[in-house]
Amino acid sequence: MTILVTGGAGYIGSHAVLTLKRQKKDVVIIDSLQTGHRGALDQDIPYYEGDLRDSEFLDHVFSAHKIDAVIHFAANSLVGESVTDPLKYYDNNVGGATSLLQAMNRHDVKKIVFSSTAATYGEPETDLIDENDPTIPTNPYGETKLAIEKMLKWAGGAYGLHSISLRYFNVAGADLDGEKGEDHNPETHLIPIVLQVALGQREKISVFGNDYPTPDGTCIRDYIHVQDLVDAHLLALEKLDKDPQTAVYNLGNGQGFSVMEVIEAARKVTGHDIPAAIEKRRAGDPAKLVASSARATKELGWKPNYPELERIIQTAWDWHRAHPEGYASTK
Ligand code: UFG
Repeated sequence: MTILVTGGAGYIGSHAVLTLKRQKKDVVIIDSLQTGHRGALDQDIPYYEGDLRDSEFLDHVFSAHKIDAVIHFAANSLVGESVTDPLKYYDNNVGGATSLLQAMNRHDVKKIVFSSTAATYGEPETDLIDENDPTIPTNPYGETKLAIEKMLKWAGGAYGLHSISLRYFNVAGADLDGEKGEDHNPETHLIPIVLQVALGQREKISVFGNDYPTPDGTCIRDYIHVQDLVDAHLLALEKLDKDPQTAVYNLGNGQGFSVMEVIEAARKVTGHDIPAAIEKRRAGDPAKLVASSARATKELGWKPNYPELERIIQTAWDWHRAHPEGYASTK
């Protein structure tokens, strides 16, 4: 069984490739290196550099390998950037997915696991979000992911394509053996930025708003370890083998932590002060996003193994300390 991983040089994609490799699965990677890192690639795994919107490129890859299933990570994923440049998101995310599904059709590949997001829910009205809650995205990033979920549903009916969309909450942490980690340029995510402060690479962490309707006024998120997230993708592939379908699952721990709680946990893990300064709200941030993952537990048999926030931060800290410049440290 050969699995095509798009975005395999990115944060989550590279962790997925590593897990598939450890399980002795055959993997092929596509990445444009728009945001992925050459240093995150594995020499032993076939890799094709190119853009999903290029159908000739995709035909070349699908002809060179007998692909059984696709895990589709490749996308632009910054909420703020999507607000200022929505067409980039529609073009790359929706355009890339459309072209990928067309290539799958041409080459008779019927299974795909898709990287979706909690940003599809917008500003939820419930404490624990489940998959039946309304999807009203508050930014173009979430809109493009929701559009792809819908495309997968229609493609399922029309072409017999089977898909599982996984709605990630806040993915964090690094490989437990320290082989891969999180490296974005520019970095915008809370945990890696807080760790950059601990490493002395930044002076302080800016807390974006403390006037939200939460106990300490800062935004609450549900942080999930990248390995737990990756494990769910493998279960989703197994599910598609046994029980062809179109489905959507949340992936989170069901527990929310405020920005201030994350900073406090990072102070404990790192032993550094991590100065924090309250600043203005960041556009498009919902006050609270916490998942019910009951459906994934029941139907995929998924259970997070690393739900503790300090453990998640510890794995990220270990990687950041070993790679203070990210993948550039390993060049
Ligand atoms: N935050 C700060 N200061 C920073 C960075 C972040 O206060 O320097 C705050 C944000 O305002 C937010 C929280 O920390 O309240 C988490 O922010 P992240 O940027 O780490 O993550 P987001 O919740 O914005 O988004 C992430 C992914 C999205 C995904 C979403 C789903 O980046 O792709 O989780 O919950 F859609």
